[in-house]
Order: sequence, then structure tokens, then C-alpha cells
Amino acid sequence: MRLHSVLGLIGLGYLASASNLRARDYDAQDYYVLHLDSTTPPSQVALQLGLAHEGQLGELEDHHIFSCHKQEVDVVHTALKERRRRKRSFGGSDILDGVKFAQKQKIKARMEKRGPLPPPPEGYAAPVEERQESPSEAVLAKQAAVAAALDIQDPIFHEQWHLLNPVQVGHDVNVTDVWMQGITGHNATVAIVDDGLDMYSDDLKDNYYAEGSYDFNDNVLEPKPRLADDRHGTRCAGEVSAVKNNVCGVGVAWDSKIAGIRILSKLITDADEAVAMNYAYQHNQIYSCSWGPPDDGRSMDAPGILIKRAMLNAVQNGRGGLGSIYVFASGNGAANEDNCNFDGYTNSIYSITVGAIDRKGLHPYYSEKCSAQLVVTYSSGSGDAIHTTDVGTNACYNGHGGTSAAAPLAAGIFALVLQIRPDLTWRDMQYLVMQTALPVDLDTGDWQDTTMGLKYSHTFGYGKIDSWATIEAAKTFKNVKPQAWYYSPWIHVNQAIPQGLEGLAVSFEVYPEMLKAANLERLEHVTVTMNVAHTRRGDLSVDLVSPDKVLSHLSASRKLDNAPEGYDDWTFMSVVHWGESGIGTWTIVVKDTNVNEFNGTFIDWHLKLWGEAIDPAAATLLPMPSEHDDDNHDQIISTTSIAGTTTTLAPVSTQTSLMANPTDHPDRPVNAKPTGTTEDENTPTNTPAATGIPSSWLPSFFPTFGASPKTQIWIYGSAALIVIFCSAVGIYLFMARRKRLRNNPRDEWEFDLLEEDEAEGLNGGGKVGGKKGGKRRAGELYDAFAAGSEDESDGEYVDGVEGGDEQEKRLYEDSDDEGRHVIGEDEDEEEVVNEKFSSVE
Ligand SMILES: *[C@@H]1O[C@H](CO)[C@@H](O)[C@H](O)[C@H]1NC(C)=O
Ligand SMILES: *[C@@H]1O[C@H](CO)[C@@H](O)[C@H](O)[C@H]1NC(C)=O
Ligand SMILES: *[C@@H]1O[C@H](CO)[C@@H](O)[C@H](O)[C@H]1NC(C)=O
Repeated sequence: MRLHSVLGLIGLGYLASASNLRARDYDAQDYYVLHLDSTTPPSQVALQLGLAHEGQLGELEDHHIFSCHKQEVDVVHTALKERRRRKRSFGGSDILDGVKFAQKQKIKARMEKRGPLPPPPEGYAAPVEERQESPSEAVLAKQAAVAAALDIQDPIFHEQWHLLNPVQVGHDVNVTDVWMQGITGHNATVAIVDDGLDMYSDDLKDNYYAEGSYDFNDNVLEPKPRLADDRHGTRCAGEVSAVKNNVCGVGVAWDSKIAGIRILSKLITDADEAVAMNYAYQHNQIYSCSWGPPDDGRSMDAPGILIKRAMLNAVQNGRGGLGSIYVFASGNGAANEDNCNFDGYTNSIYSITVGAIDRKGLHPYYSEKCSAQLVVTYSSGSGDAIHTTDVGTNACYNGHGGTSAAAPLAAGIFALVLQIRPDLTWRDMQYLVMQTALPVDLDTGDWQDTTMGLKYSHTFGYGKIDSWATIEAAKTFKNVKPQAWYYSPWIHVNQAIPQGLEGLAVSFEVYPEMLKAANLERLEHVTVTMNVAHTRRGDLSVDLVSPDKVLSHLSASRKLDNAPEGYDDWTFMSVVHWGESGIGTWTIVVKDTNVNEFNGTFIDWHLKLWGEAIDPAAATLLPMPSEHDDDNHDQIISTTSIAGTTTTLAPVSTQTSLMANPTDHPDRPVNAKPTGTTEDENTPTNTPAATGIPSSWLPSFFPTFGASPKTQIWIYGSAALIVIFCSAVGIYLFMARRKRLRNNPRDEWEFDLLEEDEAEGLNGGGKVGGKKGGKRRAGELYDAFAAGSEDESDGEYVDGVEGGDEQEKRLYEDSDDEGRHVIGEDEDEEEVVNEKFSSVE
């Protein structure tokens, strides 16, 4: 029976759009997601394209799903191309002009569960040893007292050492005195996004939240485990919300509601996952995700653009606007030297990344490190694992482990927090969790002191979650102000990376005025998007040193990663700089530590500082990401045709200030970017001038930008001093927008990119593989000053070389002589531009 008829029969009014959930038939049908102008009726688009309109894509406004019978060609791409061709010749208007983005759906790569562990490396033979340590009488007495006081009769409660550990005293989540206060997860809801949830288990059924549950693999309402190994989700669910009864044990938040969202048991598309990640997001408060790209030490993968949009949509609109809480397992690939910064889910600023410690408080061999890891909590290792519910009416499991078991435990603790503080935002939760985490195992783990007065370890994050401390702090937690951000310009480097320990260091100076203009008071997350060309990716590592001399290992070398490429617009994330002002010199160090025949070039990078706003009233919401967010340094050049003239620009030598003093233009809203997704519009507005910008800031080419006034303000919104340090001789630093040369420069750029988009980075548009970008970039001959962008992000003003205003002006004048090219606004011009750059290349 088709789902929509089921829905029709039982009339489930809570589903915003039941048509989102029509069963897909990937064997017989093709599916397209189109982002439409809000005035364009999807039914008419469907009619014109000969497709069936399947409804809105989950909670993503103006995104719609269409279907037709399966065929080789991308019929939408073909039709849009034809429409643009006709528009060039005949003009006029057409319903298809309202299509801002189109993507034919492909089955996406399988996400792997983070429960099953790879074998431990040599010398790590699982210590079965002294499990016979004798328990503490005092803790046993406490266990009995707690059970009596709370009427816990669950038969394996005494085995659940992660809740109260009588053997390794103190190595548990310290939750019993939280329960004693009546804080047990009441009125909080956690969704387990996984391979199903056994809602008929006697240990789960009373807490099962049907309205928040759905099976995206079999297109039915109940996310029942159906395959033999569909046990992972149920085990995770038990950790959170196993009912206090006479079956197995208890969940850490045993009164919470638990939903199941089944996505891991069959292959799905980005569209399905985007819907799943927003499913019932006004009611499901926390999404616990114990999966991700393979932890094989080779993968470097991030969610596609639709999933990225869904996650941003969730933090902006989910939970009544407070933001969905995403919890991700850090990954089990540590033995493969995998690192959670190579995973675009765990390194998203929108997810809380949770790693594992074992029952002795030690780092288990599998738990991945990275600068995006926020905290750790208990899981398998040192001879034991997590004891929880299993699939079956009355089945328990004592071997649940990996970081898969850590993430739901954290999610359950966050449910306890939401019982008493349902008003906390997604960012409040991150503050609360990190500020109350306890450093563990101080002798190992390379702990460093952070500016906030906390300790951070890439192995343990800010430490282990202590439920009691978290709840105590939650009681009086003062909500933080809204988010603000500052984006540096793209910083062009284009230097060979010396092999050995030294590395190539490049610095960027952030001035108080920049952050003031960005309305940014103090830092939370820091992201770095970068391009490195290399013939063996695993040889690379990257460190970031903040103005306060706090160190983030953004990436680490990986022995198994033989990919013959570097990083292509990949975004790394760090939570290590939390609480810093951000003002001062940021230095990035790219290393190629393996002295061998594989070498590379550091091409460019881009620093983004995220944090708390100065003035809440001036805060804005981040626009939806597009696949062009981090390659628009290319578009800048193509839009203004400056690059053609800049080959004549004299290289800037070491230690040179490229920027003028920005103090004469206060209060420019650097992050007041337009909220539209102009990047994927075919016809960006070409407003000739911006109001409110001091005219002295407007170079002569200004009107040639295809940007809205707001965008222009933003483009001009930052200025910087760049200083570069390097061991190599003759370093040139260029503030530049680089043209990304495409295999087929004549193709429409919007759709040229679509083929690549499944590999987009979550918070920066990082592309895996970089088949097109990296190598070509390495060979580029020109570096250039360039500025302006017709689209929403990353614009910035480059205020000339010290004493080089003349030169800059000449540059811009040249660009006028070259003609004014606005990509997307007129395709003929775009092609001219492309041609020009092809010849430059
Ligand atoms: C655990 O909770 C108790 C309150 O029950 C508290 O006094 C203690 O500081 C917490 N932390 C540890 C590590 O025991
Ligand atoms: C339950 O949670 C909702 C949403 O978070 C909140 O509005 C409501 O006040 C809560 N109810 C109770 C009894 O705490
Ligand atoms: C590796 O080194 C060679 C010789 O210096 C150079 O031509 C090549 O561009 C380098 N490769 C990369 C990816 O930087």
C-alpha cells in the first residue's frame, strides 16, 4: 500500500506535507529536486518539464521533488539549457526562469554505522584481564539505594556501569543525583537516525514517539528493524530511553520520548536524507547520529548540498527556532589514523561531535581525534562495553560499543538538559556541554589550556560529560546572544610545500574593526576552507595557531590515504578557539611530513570565525549554503574580468601590508549578506549602486558587479592586513579570486557543477576528490587582485597595497575597459568571460 493512501486513511495531520513521503521507486523512476522562485508554481514547472510534482522536499521551503520514468538523460538539465539558449536569442519570460537550482537525484554513498569496530591494531589486543577488580562497597550501596529510591527494577541496571560504575569509581556519567531530582528526560524527545528502532520492545514501547518516526528505507511509518543486522538503532535507543521497568536496563533519560528515523538499511538519495534530517523537527529535539562516511582512514566525504541546507534549516527553524540538536559519533577509525575532520558531518558547526572513553576512562583505540570534537563519553574498551536494549520483546545486549554508543549516551544527557531548559538554543547547548565537561586522563591526550580557561585535547575534546555538572550549570545558564560571523578574504598562497617537519606557514591578521563590523564579539567555531594540490593526500597535515597561541590540528597525516590529490575547497572545523576574541594574527601551517616522491602546493585558504554577536538586534540568519559558496573566488574573477589584467600586477613581497586601515568605515555589516540564494539564480539582480557606502570606497568598476546593494556592502565589508611567513624564498601573496577552470567552460556554470555536488562539504562546500579543481589550480599561472561577487558570500574588499592605491585603481579601470561581465546575468557575456580565462590559462 502506498504511503500517501495510508496517510489519507488515517489522516495524520501532523505531517506538514504528506507528499514529501511518497514512496520512491528508484528502479523505475528518476527524481529531481528543484529550488524554485517562491512565485513559481511547481505544478506549472512539472507541466512544462513533463514531470510529476511529488511535493515539497521535507521542510525546505521552495524546494520540490519531481519524478518521471527512469532514463539516462537529465531531462531537467537539458530543458533548462535549451531555455537559456532560447532566452539568449528571443528573450521573453518562461516558467523555467523560476528554477534556481536543479539536481537529479542519485543514490548516495552508504553511510556506515559506527558500532562495529575494526580490529584493534597490533599490540592493542583487547585487555580481557583484570575484570575481577572488586567493586567498591560504597558505590554498590549507592546503587542499591538509588534503585530503591527510584524503584528501578530493571534486571541489568547493576551491569550498566556507564550510569553508575561500582568498579572503576567515578568512571560513569554521574547521573544518579540528577535522577534523584526528578530529572529523567520528561518532555524531551530524541530521534535515533539509524537502521530502525524496535518500537515493540517492552523496553522501548512506552517511550516510543510514533509521530517523530519514519522509515525512509521501506517508506512506511514504522521504522521497524527488518534486516538481520538492523540492531544498531535499537541499541542506541535503549541507551537514551529504555523504560524503567522490569526489562533490561534503563536509559540515561528513561522518561524521554524516543523516535526512530530509519535511513541506514538501504541506499537513499540526498533528497531522502535531507527530509530525514528535518523529520518532525518541531517535536524531535535531538537527532542522534551514530554513522557517517567510512572510517577507513581514506575517505574524505561530506554531505551534499541538500543535506547541508536541511541541517542549516534545522538550526534556524527546528524546535521552534531554537535549533535542532544534532549529535554525531566522532568515528571509529582512529586505528586507521582517521580523523573526524575528514567527515563533513562531524566537522559541521551544527553538530556536537562526541568521541568515546572506556570504563577505565582511557582513550579506546578506535575513537577518532580531531579539532571538531567537543566532548567524549563512555563506550566500549578495557574489556567491557555498553549494556543496553536489543531488538526483540525482551532482549538485552552487553556488547554495544564504538563511538556509536557514545553519541546516544550524550544525546540522552542532552535530553535531561532539555527537560529543565527547553529554551536553550543549539549553540547554548554547545556552550553548556563544553563548559561543564571534565578533563580526563591528563597524562596523555596533549591537553592545552584555552583562552576560556578550559582544557582541550584533540583526543578527548573538552573532556567527558558529567551529567550532574551539566544539569547544575543548565539550571542557571544564561542564553547566549545570536550568532555572527566574519569571513576573511580568500588568501592566495600558491607555494610549494616543503617536505619535512617545517611546513609552510601563512598568516592573516584580524583587526578589531573587522570583527566590530561583523558584529562579532567572541569566538565559538572556527572554520578554514582550503585548497591544496598534492599527489598523496595522506602526507598532508594542517595546524592553525590563533592569536592567543592556541593550537588546532585541523588535519593529520593518514598512512592509508593514498588519494592522488590534496584538499579541494575542503572545510576543516575547530572548537578549540572557543572564547577567544579572534583579534590578532592567525597562522596556518601546512606540512608534508613524509619526505618522499609525493609533493604538493598550498593554493589558498579562507578563514571563517563564528561566534556570538555584539548586538543581537543586528544579527542576521546565515543564507542557505550553495554549491558555490567556496568556489566563488573563481566567480569573482569571472564576473569582473579583472584577472585578465592582473597578470601585470607586481607581486607583493613578504611582510607587506596589503590593506588600508579599515577604521574609517565603522559599522559595516560584514555579515549582513542577502538572504536569498542568488548564487543559484539564473538572473541575479544587477543593481548599479549601493546606498550607504562611502563613495570613497567605490572603485570605478563598482557598477559592474551583479550584486544587490546589500551584497555590495558585504563585499566591501572587510579589510585585512596580510602577513606571510615562509621558509621558502620569494613568496608572493595575493588577495585573489581564482577562476575555477572547468572542463567545459562553455557549459552553463550552474549545471556544470551539479554533477559534482554529492561531494559537497557540509559547512563550506568542500568537494571530495577534487577531480576538476585541484590539479588545474596547481598549474595556474596567474594570481590576481580581484574583488566583487554577484553572489551571496565571501565577498570582501581589498583595499590596495600599502601605497598601492594607484595601482589598484588602474587595475579596476582596466577592468572597465575589458568590459563588464556579470556571470549568470547574461550568458553570452559569461561565455566571453570563460573564453578569456581559457586563454589566460
Ligand atoms: C558527580 O555528582 C556529584 C553529586 O551527586 C557531585 O558532587 C560531583 O562533583 C560530581 N562529579 C564527580 C566527578 O563525581
Ligand atoms: C514541554 O516542552 C515544551 C517544548 O519544549 C514546552 O513548551 C513545555 O512547556 C514543556 N512542558 C512541561 C510540562 O515542561
Ligand atoms: C611537485 O614538484 C614538481 C617539481 O618541483 C612540480 O613541478 C610539481 O608542480 C609539484 N606538484 C605539486 C602537486 O605541487
